[in-house]
Amino acid sequence: MSSGPIIAWHEGASLASPSRSGVFSVAADGRLERYAQSIEFDRRLYRHDIRGSIAHARMLGRVGLLRPEEVDALVEALQDIEREIDRDEFPWRIELEDIHMHIEQALIDRLGDVGRKLHTGRSRNDQVTTATRLWLRDAIDRLDERLASLQRAFLSRCDRDFDVVLPAYTHFQRAQPVLAPHYWLAYCERWERDRERLRDARRRVNTCTLGTAALAGSSLPLDREWVARELGFERLAENSLDASFDRDFIAETLSVLALIALHLSGWAEEWILWSTVEYGFLRLPAAFCTGSSIMPQKINPDVLELIRGKSGRVVGDLQSVLVLIKGLPLAYNRDFQEDKPPLFDAVDTVEASLEIAIPIVEEAELDRERIARGLEQGYLDATTLMEWLIARGVPQRRAHHAVGEIVQRAMERGVPLKELPLEAFAEAGLDVDASVYDVLGAPRAVEAFRTRGSTSPTQVRARIDAWRKRLETDTDRQQNR
Ligand code: ARG
Repeated sequence: MSSGPIIAWHEGASLASPSRSGVFSVAADGRLERYAQSIEFDRRLYRHDIRGSIAHARMLGRVGLLRPEEVDALVEALQDIEREIDRDEFPWRIELEDIHMHIEQALIDRLGDVGRKLHTGRSRNDQVTTATRLWLRDAIDRLDERLASLQRAFLSRCDRDFDVVLPAYTHFQRAQPVLAPHYWLAYCERWERDRERLRDARRRVNTCTLGTAALAGSSLPLDREWVARELGFERLAENSLDASFDRDFIAETLSVLALIALHLSGWAEEWILWSTVEYGFLRLPAAFCTGSSIMPQKINPDVLELIRGKSGRVVGDLQSVLVLIKGLPLAYNRDFQEDKPPLFDAVDTVEASLEIAIPIVEEAELDRERIARGLEQGYLDATTLMEWLIARGVPQRRAHHAVGEIVQRAMERGVPLKELPLEAFAEAGLDVDASVYDVLGAPRAVEAFRTRGSTSPTQVRARIDAWRKRLETDTDRQQNR
C-alpha cells in the first residue's frame, strides 16, 4: 500500500452503501437489501447515533485526526441531519441498510471527503452499541420517572383511604384484615424494587464502547476517556472483543422490564377482581372503562386487561433476546441486529402501561359501604384472637386449636366472632372476660397489630410519612437532572 497523501477519491460503480468497499465488484442484490435492512426499526436511534457521532468527530479533532474546520463542518451537518429527521423530511432508502449508514451517506452527500472521514477509528459495531446504550439510558430514566409517578399515585390514596379496612388473602382465601393504605404501600415497595433493579442495570448500560472499533480496538490515537466523559458514560468497556459482543445490558434491562410488566399484571388482575359485582370493593374510573357492543349494562375494565395481556409480550421480548444471544461466539454477529425490535417493544409497552395505570390508580374509588358490609365474613380476626390468648399465657398450639373450635361454633350460629356470647368461649374451654371483645371485629383486630412492617395504624402512618419523604426528594432529584 502506498503511503503519502491521498490524491483523489475514485468513485466506484453504483455501490450504494458506504460499507461496500472496493472488495466488491458487484452491487448488492435487492433481495439482500430488503432482507438485511434494519432502517425500518432502528431509525428511532437517530438522535443518539448523532450524539455519538458528534462526540466522535470532536475527539478526532482533539487528537489531530481531523482539522478544526472539518470537525465544525461535520458537527454542523450532523445537527442539520438531525433537524431534517425531526421534521420528517429525511429520505429513507432501503439500500442504505440502517440508521448509521443513512446518516453517514447524508454526510458524504453534503460534505464529500470530509463526510468520508467521520468513520475514522470507528466501526458500526461500536457505533451501534453506543447509540443503543445512549437510547436505553434515556429510556431507563423515563421509566424510572413513570414508576415514581405510579408510586406517588398510590401514595396519594393513602390518606384518603386511611380508615378503610380490607380483607387480605392467602391462597385466595380471606386471611387477616389490613388497612387499605397497607395495600397501596405494598405496591410502592414492589415498584421500588423495580426502580432499584433499573438503577442497577443502568450502571452497566452506561458503559462506553466507542473506540473499541470492530473488535480489536484501533491503531489510531483515539481518546476513549474523553469520548466517554463527553457522552456521560460512567465507565469504559475494557475489552474490545467483549464490547463488540456484549448484549447483556439489553437482556438485563429486559428482565427488569419483564418483572415490571408482571408486577403491573398482578395489580391489574387484583383490581379487575375487586371491581366485579362479586367483590364490589372498587369502582374503576368510567373514563378508562369500555362498554359492550351488545350488552348495554356492561362496564368493562379493558385497560387493566390489556395491561395484564401486554405483559406476555414483554416476557416474550426478553425470551427473544435470550435465545438470540445463546451460543453466539465472540465478537459481533449480525444476529445482534435483531435485539432492537424486542428492546423497543418492551420499552414502549411498559412505558405505555405505566402511563395509563397512573390515572386509574388516582381516580378509582373504594366502595366503602360494600367493603364494610362484607368485612365480618371470613373471620379475619381469628388470628388476632389467638394472639390475644397467647399474650395471656395460653400455649400457641392450644390457642390455635381453641380458636378453631370457636370459629366452628360461630359458623354454626352464622355470626361473626364479636357476636358470640362469653359462654361460647367458655364452652370451648376458654376462660376469658369481656375484654376479649377489644380485639374482635376486623377494624379492632387491625388496631391490635404492632410489629414493624405490619398493618398497625401507627406503623402504616410512619410508612406513609417515610414514603412521602422518599418520593419528595425523588422529585427534587428528577428536577435537577
Ligand atoms: N444494523 C447493525 C446492527 O444493528 C449495525 C451493525 C452492523 N455491523 C456489521 N458489522 N455489519 O447490528
